Amino acid sequence: MFNVYVTRKLPGSALDQLRAFCNVTVQPEDRNITKAELLQNVAGQDALMSMLSDPVDAEVIEAGKQLKVIANYAVGFNNIDVVAASQRKIPVCNTPDVLTNASADFAWALLMSTARRVIEGDIMTRSGQFKGWAPELLLGVEVYGKTLGIIGAGRIGQAVAKRALGFDMRTLYHNRTRLPHTVEEKLNMEYVDLQTLLRQSDFVSLHCPLTPDTRYLIGQEELASMKSTAILINTARGPVVDETALVAALKDNIIYGAGLDVFEDEPALKPGLAELPNVVLAPHIASAAVETRVKMVEMVVRDVQAALEGRRPANLVNPEIY
Ligand code: GLV
Ligand code: GLV
Repeated sequence: MFNVYVTRKLPGSALDQLRAFCNVTVQPEDRNITKAELLQNVAGQDALMSMLSDPVDAEVIEAGKQLKVIANYAVGFNNIDVVAASQRKIPVCNTPDVLTNASADFAWALLMSTARRVIEGDIMTRSGQFKGWAPELLLGVEVYGKTLGIIGAGRIGQAVAKRALGFDMRTLYHNRTRLPHTVEEKLNMEYVDLQTLLRQSDFVSLHCPLTPDTRYLIGQEELASMKSTAILINTARGPVVDETALVAALKDNIIYGAGLDVFEDEPALKPGLAELPNVVLAPHIASAAVETRVKMVEMVVRDVQAALEGRRPANLVNPEIY
């Protein structure tokens, strides 16, 4: 029997497939595991199913002497030291594709609710401060026909661009590599450098992974390059944005607003952020749709099973080990 450790209770019943040939231990508490607990519990495990909030660093991987696979219940994997895993030839798996549409939908939910002040309206209405229709009540900015700037044009960035077709937007994008011409044409995406994107976009939406190259990609200078009417959307990873600089830019009306699903020191917020009226804040829920989260479990289960049976998992972030 193999030993499998899962750091949080997961939705659906897919884990039962593993129970047929593995001892599956699910961390019983309704909270994220600490590094110390992770170190202790990874020992003797053949597979680790980790969450994006778990620090699966070199020390944890070292403590998991028997590890044959690490499957992260997320598309992003910046919480894992992939180099350390690869040195031990441990496959690292993630959950791309199944969460693309849910994540793109949510980036749009943040974009729309920030532009049209949905949360402020909700607070006003439910607290009894709605005293009747008024010509200048909670004026926001229009979305239709505006310019959308997408930073990071992978699956999710492209799915966000696809939705912009219905809003007749001009869509600019910046990415490490240019997309094939056919994709650009189909999704009406125009490749530009970062400065052009920041200067011309009414909405800037982040869809890049967190890497040493993208840490603080959006800082004080980049925010200053944006239009004073622009809105920043971050559903990628908190540290892609210098959150302290963002708070200052929002306070000084350097940009109009921000819709954020991720934070630099998640779950903590930088001082001042929660007091700002022109932000919409979400608790890292872009992929949190029932169907999506169930499919994500099925995906990590399939990949763990494959790795334990000596086969190549379908969703590998370090394919070079094979
Ligand atoms: C969520 O942030 C993910 O990476 O899946
Ligand atoms: C990665 O974040 C993707 O676009 O799927």
